[in-house]
Amino acid sequence: MLAAAAALCGCGAGMRPMTSVEPPPPSNGRPAQPDGWDRAVTLQTPQDLDPTPNVVEFDLDAQVGAQTFLPGTTTPAWTYNGVVPGPLIRAHVGDKIIAHFTNHLPADSTVHWHGIRLPSNMDGVPGHTQPPVHPGGSFDYVFNVPDPGLFWYHPHVDSAAQVGDGLYGAILVEDPASPDASQAATFGDDLVLMLSDIDLRPDGSLLDPMSTSGGGFGTLFGREGNTLLVNGQVKPTIEARVGLRQRWRIVNTAKSRYYQLALDGNTFTLIGVDGGFIPAPIDKQMIVVVPGGRADVIVEPKGTPGTTVPVKWIPYDRGYGTAYMIPPEELFYVAFSSDAPYVEPNAVPAALRTIEPLDTSTSLSRSITLGGDTSTGDVVLTINGVPAAMAEAMPAKVGTTEVWTVKNTMQFDHPFHVHGFFFQPLDSVTGAALPAPQWLDTYNVPQMQTVQFAIKYDDRPGMWMFHCHILDHADAGMMGMLQLSE
Ligand code: C2O
Ligand code: CU
Repeated sequence: MLAAAAALCGCGAGMRPMTSVEPPPPSNGRPAQPDGWDRAVTLQTPQDLDPTPNVVEFDLDAQVGAQTFLPGTTTPAWTYNGVVPGPLIRAHVGDKIIAHFTNHLPADSTVHWHGIRLPSNMDGVPGHTQPPVHPGGSFDYVFNVPDPGLFWYHPHVDSAAQVGDGLYGAILVEDPASPDASQAATFGDDLVLMLSDIDLRPDGSLLDPMSTSGGGFGTLFGREGNTLLVNGQVKPTIEARVGLRQRWRIVNTAKSRYYQLALDGNTFTLIGVDGGFIPAPIDKQMIVVVPGGRADVIVEPKGTPGTTVPVKWIPYDRGYGTAYMIPPEELFYVAFSSDAPYVEPNAVPAALRTIEPLDTSTSLSRSITLGGDTSTGDVVLTINGVPAAMAEAMPAKVGTTEVWTVKNTMQFDHPFHVHGFFFQPLDSVTGAALPAPQWLDTYNVPQMQTVQFAIKYDDRPGMWMFHCHILDHADAGMMGMLQLSE
């Protein structure tokens, strides 16, 4: 299974599977990336316990494990299988995933599979789709992966602390029949980049988020870790050959931080988002990835052979002075080999995918208001006026299409996430389909603004959560439930 996955994606060179697999030769006629180009950010892959093709079975053990983030120090991070990020799961569309989760943390936990259209009882939401997994307990997650794309997994208990202290990992689902495979020659070699941050003292120990960063105001603001991480590394360097494309598959797993990225003298070509390819590529000076969200970008690096350039984190104004007096930071580096610049023979295809707009002519409408109450001194964040603990599930029916209108009454942005389904953003004023529809599961609702999206429920009844993916906001109450019935 791993061998097949590595061979099909042509990206074996950077993988370090625990089964012994020779990296396949580049099959698409492209020159190779510089030797060891992605070594600094390699993600572990788990051992596939089931040799059957189309079954990916692995152990996922949540445990406190020593990690080195700051040189010369160790951090007692919260990990899956002892590593931050947790292992990268590679699968193909339609594969069956079997994850044997065991909890060796000193707290309850669960695993939520962000963005995957799985059955409700595998969704990992404690108290709604399963009981929490107590310390020493276990739970088997078994589901199929119906869609190609980059997904991720994380706990859904005390999320700001558990995710913030290291519990997250990626699932890359590929579709051998999609342009992904047939157009590999134009997309370049791929690299999964998990962007996050963690709050550390200089000696490497974990800062307790609740005792620092301004109490209730910290909650309202959304706490950002003080140390930026790329695949668990601080300021790593990847290598590139000038002109030779790389495909960066980015997920923002930070508890609050937005990632706005810039690479001097370069543009990013956005080709996909949460739910796979967008209809046509879009060139951007900077890309923004909100907490929970994904971006699939092609970088055709420009620069001078032999030099190193930084990829910068650029402050993003997500409300109430969140970008005020905050300097940009160097997030990671691209070191150019001394090879002569490569000239790509083919343009990135102008059409990537056809996405039909959802038919909203007979849709139901649902209004969601995101708000907060700070009058008591405690920060309580709400959906439709009530915090999660007091909310009643909202009924909905399988097979129906709804238009959600999400109104943000606060001075802070909220990246709004719906579990288990993709949706299509609509024109926020007219509610009309956008000229280039896309599939998202996490959508930024800017401060004091209203957005709309269309969502169609396929036949997976059960409980489905929606919430702000600034995890401090979710923990402070900005979560709700949909009860989907036949
Ligand atoms: Cu990443 Cu409730 O989600
Ligand atoms: Cu929020």
